Amino acid sequence: MTDSVVMTPINYSADRPRAANPVKIQDLSLRDGHQSLFATRGRTEDMIPVAEMMDEIGFWAVETWGGATFDTMHRFLNEDPWERLRTLKRYFKKTPFSMLLRAQNLVGYRNYADDVARAFVDRAVANGMDIFRTFDALNDYRNFETVADQIKKNGKHFQGCMCYSMTEPRMGGEVYNLDYYIGKARELEAMGVDSICIKDMAGLIAPYDAYNLVKALKAAVKAPIHLHSHFTSGMASMSQLKAIEAGVDILDTCMTPYAYRTSHPAIEPLVMTLLGTSRDTGFDIRKLAAINEVLEKEILPKYKHLLDDSKVSVIDINVLLHQTPGGMLSNLVNQLREMDALDKIDEVYKQLPRVRKELGQVPLVTPTSQIVGVQTVNNVLYDTPDERYKMITAQVKDLCYGLYGKTAVPIDAEVQKKALKGYPRGEQPITCRPAEVLEAELEKARKDIGDLAADTDDLLTYTLFPVTGKKYLEWKYGRAEAPASVKPITLEQVKKTDALVKKAKAGELVERKAETPAKSERLRTFNVFVDNEYFTVEVDPTGDAPILVAAPQVVAAAPVSASAPAAAPKAAPAAAPAPAPAAVAGTKLAAPMPGLIIRYLKNVGDKVAKGEAVVVLEAMKMENALVAPCDGEIKAIGFKSGDTVAKGAALCVIG
Ligand code: CO
Repeated sequence: MTDSVVMTPINYSADRPRAANPVKIQDLSLRDGHQSLFATRGRTEDMIPVAEMMDEIGFWAVETWGGATFDTMHRFLNEDPWERLRTLKRYFKKTPFSMLLRAQNLVGYRNYADDVARAFVDRAVANGMDIFRTFDALNDYRNFETVADQIKKNGKHFQGCMCYSMTEPRMGGEVYNLDYYIGKARELEAMGVDSICIKDMAGLIAPYDAYNLVKALKAAVKAPIHLHSHFTSGMASMSQLKAIEAGVDILDTCMTPYAYRTSHPAIEPLVMTLLGTSRDTGFDIRKLAAINEVLEKEILPKYKHLLDDSKVSVIDINVLLHQTPGGMLSNLVNQLREMDALDKIDEVYKQLPRVRKELGQVPLVTPTSQIVGVQTVNNVLYDTPDERYKMITAQVKDLCYGLYGKTAVPIDAEVQKKALKGYPRGEQPITCRPAEVLEAELEKARKDIGDLAADTDDLLTYTLFPVTGKKYLEWKYGRAEAPASVKPITLEQVKKTDALVKKAKAGELVERKAETPAKSERLRTFNVFVDNEYFTVEVDPTGDAPILVAAPQVVAAAPVSASAPAAAPKAAPAAAPAPAPAAVAGTKLAAPMPGLIIRYLKNVGDKVAKGEAVVVLEAMKMENALVAPCDGEIKAIGFKSGDTVAKGAALCVIG
């Protein structure tokens, strides 16, 4: 027992004497927990059954919003993100709400204009938000200025994050060393933060580094120190304990069913660990157990199919080897798989540190982890021996321009020059606060969306996510039918499926026919897609002559990734390899990767020159401007904004 954690005789009961300096706990189950383990698919209706019970525990705060929730809810769950706050607030009467705010990125993937940022904070407060955990992917705190001001104006808690990043196996080295973090904490204190969070999104912080860092921060600044560390690498529980010994004020945990793996340490073992010490949480372990009972039996069965069960290990030692977030690594694997290039993964791992360094040694957190990851994949797949950075994403161009802020070290001059060639805002990068060059957005968005946005909340949904946000508003107001894939599943359905699987495993599902007929040469194979699963079905006509039809329509397989919504019915004919322009003669521009059409920059009849951007395709949340493969005129266009396309789909024909 160290001198900072003093032991007193243990009293197990809930009314035991209060500790001298209890560790405060924020619960993350309802945001980061299900975001980490279940792709953010948790539904509001599945939070309500435990909400009042959780309100009784004594959490410092519950995290209920932010991060990917806003995106996922409107895109995949057909739920209004604003409504979740209002609903949960009716059940949590005592415990403050917290959210993860990506500073000027809000809950999206780029810097929005100041008018959007101010309106967003105002509406979050109006709908029930209390604590704003604010981070910037580059740790460039100029991106905090607008939201911090607005949070303070609303009288709410402004928590400033330092994204914990590394370039070496342990804290230190030239960039992300102890001095760097102390400097960041002092910057935050000067901005008037109410608390400071060490945001260890990748689970990189090692226990003794956590000890040294927290100890140094406690000596350097007055604001309470909060540690957020993911379990991914397996170190987080140890790091929490060392942080407690160093005097950390607040820790993040999850209820057991939402804990561990890429999520966070569980609360229950921590309560027992600290019981009777001077840092005792004071929580009643039996109340926590009762919540777990509900989650385990009534809620989690509906989500277990989303749990990544491809591995037996609960930790990912790749994180220790590559110092990159686990989520980023699995995104890279998914992206390569979708592009039939999984064999390139080792090359991607090898290139990653180089690309990261060239792009300014940025911390790897949303969205920079995606920006660096996707660009690395692009480099590995499309570069040639005599040319690097052949396909540069729009986001890398923005980063090179300074639109995300200042990088930890300067961006490689050659890469920057190449990225900014023909960049619409200019070829000379900016050095000011990024939002200063952004034009106000709300009024234009209001005009674009018209009466489909009933209030400011709707307007913000559309402004933040123009393509999917509009789609959602059409579902919300009955102007389009929501696809089956966004509907919830019930516990009854889960039980039925489980029973079927059990029967099938026992061999009781299908009565075997005495003889299986031989397959004829007329046999045809179909891929049948149901949501994100697909089945291969063989059909062998038993009639007379085989009926010959034109090339079968292949349904565009919605990749199981956050970037592409499950194929909506109307997107079904979005086909590879034969969509509408198939019959038109000319040179086809094929999708180099599966993705979502953001917009066409040209119309049928427009003249284009080779190398001119024609269509913007979003893949893995990054936008790629695809260019004309030759000179000519656009003869046909295969899709429209919002369509999901497969790799190889003919996006347009140039003749
Ligand atoms: Co997190």
